[in-house]
Amino acid sequence: MIDNQAIRAEFPLLSQTEKDLPLVYLDNASTSQKPQQVIDAVAKYYASENANVHRGVYGLSERATEAFEGVRGQVQRLLNANTTKEVIFVRGATEGINLVASSWGRSSLKPGDQIIVSEMEHHSNLVPWQLLVADLGIEIVKWPIDARGQLHLEDLAGLLNDKTRLVAVTHMSNALGSINPINEIITMAHQQGAKVLVDAAQSISHMPIDVQALDVDFLVFSGHKMYAPTGIGVLYAKQALLEQMPPYMGGGDMIYQVSFEATTFNELPYKFEAGTPNIAGVIGLGSAISFIERVGFDTIAKIENDLLDYATARLSAIPGLRIIGEADHKGAVISFVFDQAHPHDIATLIDQDAIALRASHHCAMPVMLKFNLPATLRASFGVYNNRDDVDRLCAALVDALDMLA
Ligand SMILES: Cc1ncc(COP(=O)(O)O)c(C=O)c1O
Repeated sequence: MIDNQAIRAEFPLLSQTEKDLPLVYLDNASTSQKPQQVIDAVAKYYASENANVHRGVYGLSERATEAFEGVRGQVQRLLNANTTKEVIFVRGATEGINLVASSWGRSSLKPGDQIIVSEMEHHSNLVPWQLLVADLGIEIVKWPIDARGQLHLEDLAGLLNDKTRLVAVTHMSNALGSINPINEIITMAHQQGAKVLVDAAQSISHMPIDVQALDVDFLVFSGHKMYAPTGIGVLYAKQALLEQMPPYMGGGDMIYQVSFEATTFNELPYKFEAGTPNIAGVIGLGSAISFIERVGFDTIAKIENDLLDYATARLSAIPGLRIIGEADHKGAVISFVFDQAHPHDIATLIDQDAIALRASHHCAMPVMLKFNLPATLRASFGVYNNRDDVDRLCAALVDALDMLA
């Protein structure tokens, strides 16, 4: 067990009380809290650096542009992308996937083509593909999960064929915690000539990702789940793919020359960044990356793996509690239900004990259907959580069950 008191102290929101009790925040898979350095970076940008980027020749705008583009370099290094041209700033994972579906999907898919989508995907990695089905005559093929919430490579081998154009899969499930073998998935898909889109919304704050080592085609994540502000995220895509893809949105910044007769488009990555970007969000993202790099993925893994093991053991000991998602390889997300109580009732009761716990379908309704559940309770951990949070959760759950009985 690592003492993470100093890390926790960097997050001002966590020292506030709810209902006169210290807050226990366990909804990190939904969004993370922000360290002081991210809050300060955003405030400093607005207080002393605010100007539009890529437009002004005056000093303030040049400094804002330098800071903004500096973060693109940070993302490139975080992901080990080949060039900053492969780093597209978007609003979040959802927009990144929609960009790929609209631009790459509409320009390169034809009737009869298949997209394999895993059964554990967040709606944002299923619905954008469904939107193409009627228009393009393509087919979505479900890659099923087993009763423990795992995907099997043998099943993928059976689904891949010469019609498969894309495998859309999450690195880590927000509803089950399962971590998928994306390395092997990418190798298998490529052997069949298919591309792979990895949804790294959950994994990005927990483990290192090397897009060149993975040879992944598309990868998306959201800043707000990795200690950065909301409204900013990243689409990584291989330069060769981005060069071929048409623009997603039209407007300022994404053009080279415009007339009523003909418009030409800007070079990468700007071709995909129409309009004034979320500059403050990008600055905050840069600060969040610095925070993660300062703490280090080794420390993050030690803290979160300890919490996963400790919480799994403690929760499993509560009578009537059933964990949903028992993959061999899991991140610090635990979904669970009680046979005797509805998740929403439990979450509402433990809110009285200042425990912020999610009760929901977690935007993964196909997972709920698979387990024949309307919803689950979900405890998801960040680098600032500790065993005390788990103890408080378990005590509150036992009290809530007593009350409902
Ligand atoms: C696995 C996964 N993918 C995608 C998303 C969508 O992220 P956002 O709403 O930030 O675009 C989420 C959010 O919960 C997620 O957990």
